[in-house]
Amino acid sequence: MSRIAYVNGRYVPHRSAMVHIEDRGYQYADAVYEVCEVSDGALVDMTRHLDRLDRSLRELRIRPPMSRGALATVLHRTVALNRVRDGFVYLQVSRGVARRDHFLPDPALPPAVVVTARSVDRAAAERTARKGIAVVTVPDNRWGRPDIKTVQLLPNTLAKQVAKEAGASEAWFVDASGHVTEGGSTNAWIVTKDGRLVTRQADSSILRGITRTGVMDLVKRRNLLVEERAFTVEEALGAAEAFVTSASNPVTPVVRINGNMIGDGSPGPVALALRAAFHEVTELSRPVNHGK
Ligand code: PDD
Repeated sequence: MSRIAYVNGRYVPHRSAMVHIEDRGYQYADAVYEVCEVSDGALVDMTRHLDRLDRSLRELRIRPPMSRGALATVLHRTVALNRVRDGFVYLQVSRGVARRDHFLPDPALPPAVVVTARSVDRAAAERTARKGIAVVTVPDNRWGRPDIKTVQLLPNTLAKQVAKEAGASEAWFVDASGHVTEGGSTNAWIVTKDGRLVTRQADSSILRGITRTGVMDLVKRRNLLVEERAFTVEEALGAAEAFVTSASNPVTPVVRINGNMIGDGSPGPVALALRAAFHEVTELSRPVNHGK
């Protein structure tokens, strides 16, 4: 089946989907994005993703490209056209196309919107989770606002490449004081030996993950203890468990950090239980049926 992308008002074949060379996303990383999980054809926590998109757009002073209802329709339609049952939908909004100039263009410039959708192999993701992943730590060399979901991801891609070359699947960024901020494309969590969950407070140093928020809901529902605070690499090495969260693979156990085994080197019970129960607390959104 050929893939379809949404580009600035049109659904086009993925292979010939193009943006202009002076798209500000291309020239200045002047764009924001969202990745929303698709589970059994439904968008997972779409409302929270669109709320975060609104915030990212506001922070960068990019105009909302269309109404929320219209955006939801485009997301659902792209998922349907690509026949995605389990996978994710990607949405990018750039400030638009304008002659290259560092100053911001006329605020009336229409933003540029791209949406793609892709299936994932659930069974493969499940096998990965059953084994657990390895992470390595790298210095956090990103700009000061990783709380905004911009496409400025070069430090993240380079960090993840370092991880890959070391036989790991994720890199954890570490700030100047030795505390873990987050993963290259995930939020980082540990479970202490006395059973408390710890993840960094969602200030300007990390992205407030939608999956992180969902896991918080689940943790509260189960009366587990959670602390939103920074933790050091050393504390993580001595933890009972570690895991990462993101929309592309909700809860993934971490079994090695910098080559050191976490716990007994296999996925921990807390991470596996949260993974199994994650969709109990999420909003599942399906296209509105207009009776047609
Ligand atoms: N990444 N931190 C970073 C730096 C991320 O890029 C992501 C998501 C997260 C987790 O956020 P959420 O739970 O909302 O997915 C945390 C997406 C999946 C990506 O770039 O592909």
